[in-house]
Amino acid sequence: MDKDVAGHVRVAIVGSGQMAGVRAERLANSAHTSLVAVAARNEKTGTELAARHGVEYTSDWRATVGRPDVDAVVLTTHPDTRAEMGMAVLSAGKHLFTESPLAMSPRDGSRLLAVANENGLVIRVGHTSVIRPAQCLIREQIAALGGPVHDHAVVQPSNDARRGRRPGFDQRISGHPVVYAVILGLQVIYARGPIVEVSAGTWMEPDGDVFDRCAVHVTLRFEDRGLATITYRRGFSGQAQAGRNVLCRNGSIAYADGAGHITVTASGESRDISVPEADPWREELDEFVESIGTGRLMTVSADEAMRVVSIFDAVRRHSNGYRVMSLL
Ligand SMILES: NC(=O)c1ccc[n+]([C@@H]2O[C@H](COP(=O)([O-])OP(=O)(O)OC[C@H]3O[C@@H](n4cnc5c(N)ncnc54)[C@H](OP(=O)(O)O)[C@@H]3O)[C@@H](O)[C@H]2O)c1
Repeated sequence: MDKDVAGHVRVAIVGSGQMAGVRAERLANSAHTSLVAVAARNEKTGTELAARHGVEYTSDWRATVGRPDVDAVVLTTHPDTRAEMGMAVLSAGKHLFTESPLAMSPRDGSRLLAVANENGLVIRVGHTSVIRPAQCLIREQIAALGGPVHDHAVVQPSNDARRGRRPGFDQRISGHPVVYAVILGLQVIYARGPIVEVSAGTWMEPDGDVFDRCAVHVTLRFEDRGLATITYRRGFSGQAQAGRNVLCRNGSIAYADGAGHITVTASGESRDISVPEADPWREELDEFVESIGTGRLMTVSADEAMRVVSIFDAVRRHSNGYRVMSLL
């Protein structure tokens, strides 16, 4: 059974941080879902979140995942929990919405997909970067301009509030920095054809499990000969030039993160196009719930999420490029 008598998909959230709050609000306000429990190791934020929505708090995520009155689970914990928690959710016969990434390794990701397929369950991964309204608009304009030649994303939080917070700067919890370079720069990869070549360079300081600052540069070449590059910098203060710049066959597109418009240049003329309002965090949950009910295809399928894992794994393996035989 995937719904209660009122036709709501009953959802439990695991975690009580930033994204747990974001998802809980949308689940509680949706006509199609009801939030039934919050399971979190952090008693303070967990009880606060549960109280805000009038649902039960528990520190026992395994018990919550197994509850018969839970149809689906939203995982908002850190990336290192995906394999264990995701597997427990799917093995209990519950649909899985998880914040990105699906898994930290292709092996773990394939296992999750296999269990979901065996049990007829939906997996949706929150790859929000590709459905933000500016990125949807850019995709439309790329198609109108004859397709991409070189797509470049710069990802650099201008005010990195996480600096000094361990999870995002600890490779044992959040993975090698290329994981987030690929996740946060996914808009230059999504909906493109097969990738035939990757290379990358990574700078970290200090160069260990826990780093303070990093800079990553990823280059991808697609089967259609088009190129994409992602620059990802983290832990630096100062104003960032984050955004996206796409050279197309018949023009170009520029977007500065947070701007209310994109700029399209074609035939020697530039024009600004306004970015529409949207709530991609809600859209992701709506797609997930609709897919549970009707099997409707989602903008990011489980296979696409698995592809992301394979891509960052390949990028990590090439994360300091190819050694040149003699200095060039
Ligand atoms: N879709 C988007 O736009 C978007 C935006 C930001 C982040 N994200 C993704 O969302 C995920 C969470 O990010 P966040 O910003 O919400 O992080 P956060 O604020 O640090 O929250 C993470 C939560 O998970 C809990 N947690 C972590 N490991 C756990 C474990 N082993 N067992 C039980 N609870 C655990 C944390 O508990 P403590 O409080 O005890 O640490 C905290 O409640 C990340 O994967 C990130 O990539 C997505």
